[in-house]
Amino acid sequence: MRIEIQVNGHRHTVDVDPSQTLLEVLRDELGLTGTKYGCGEGRCGACTVLMGSHAVASCTIPAQSAVGAPITTIEGLEHDGHLHPVQDAFIAEEAFQCAYCTSGMIMASVALLRATPEPTADDIARALETNVCRCGTYPRIVAAVRRAAASVSGDQRP
Ligand code: FES
Ligand code: FES
Repeated sequence: MRIEIQVNGHRHTVDVDPSQTLLEVLRDELGLTGTKYGCGEGRCGACTVLMGSHAVASCTIPAQSAVGAPITTIEGLEHDGHLHPVQDAFIAEEAFQCAYCTSGMIMASVALLRATPEPTADDIARALETNVCRCGTYPRIVAAVRRAAASVSGDQRP
């Protein structure tokens, strides 16, 4: 079936199989490989993108479900050559080792800060509980979210 989806502010028409996931379309059809494949079953968060303002595991979303819902991937956070404050904070805190989890962590953090600009430690833990970092960088990731909270407050970006 042919569907039209909006990704990072651009409309794309793609032919999809009913079994194809949003993650597969993003990576394989649109070349947006910043979104990672980890578990493929909604348990690791590596594939997290924004659907509207909500963080979702794109490996669990049928591609056709994205019709009418603006999708933002890690590639869509940068504006006019400037990284999003959450991206800047992850760099400042060196909140990654292999970085395989990083785009998912950042997208989940962006969703958190949009909904809760001044999150508590519990808010951060809850928001990231389905995002797994196999390198164990959690303390730096939490520090990055805290750092971003100050600068992202009141900021409506993606
Ligand atoms: S690849 Fe989607 S949650 Fe793990
Ligand atoms: S930095 Fe390696 S999985 Fe998180």
